[in-house]
Amino acid sequence: MHRFITPLLLPLLMLVPGLAGSEDRAGDPQAGQVRFMRVGCYECHGTVGQGGAGMRLVPLPLPWIGFQIYVRRPGGQMPAYSDKVLGDADLADIYAYLKSIPEGPRAKDIALIEDAADK
Ligand code: HEC
Repeated sequence: MHRFITPLLLPLLMLVPGLAGSEDRAGDPQAGQVRFMRVGCYECHGTVGQGGAGMRLVPLPLPWIGFQIYVRRPGGQMPAYSDKVLGDADLADIYAYLKSIPEGPRAKDIALIEDAADK
């Protein structure tokens, strides 16, 4: 029984993200900030991920694995970044950087904007 089940199970287990070693990777936020600027993410997503031509990335709803898959093969306007131009370790740093950015206040919580909206 064992001999039969093991070869069958192993490839399946490799598909489980945590077991394949691709759970939320510990990246370095400071190195990630430098990388975010250098490879040009900031051009579309803003220097602190606030958005621009590309969408807002803070707060980032995606888990590491989803983030990685998206950047490698984006679905829409965004250019793809292969692991040749941006390795997994560098991408993990970018992920850590985006996760480290505090979320700004909502527009409704900024008195000046609320006052202007009342007029
Ligand atoms: C040329 C503009 C451009 C550049 C450069 C760019 N992006 Fe994007 N990105 C977009 C756009 C536009 C979207 C919205 C979806 C789409 O069209 O692909 C997006 C979507 C995303 C998303 C999906 C967010 C979500 O919640 O679904 C992530 C993550 C992301 N970008 C990360 C990055 C990272 C990291 C870099 C740098 C390695 C980068 N982007 C560089 C334009 C860009």
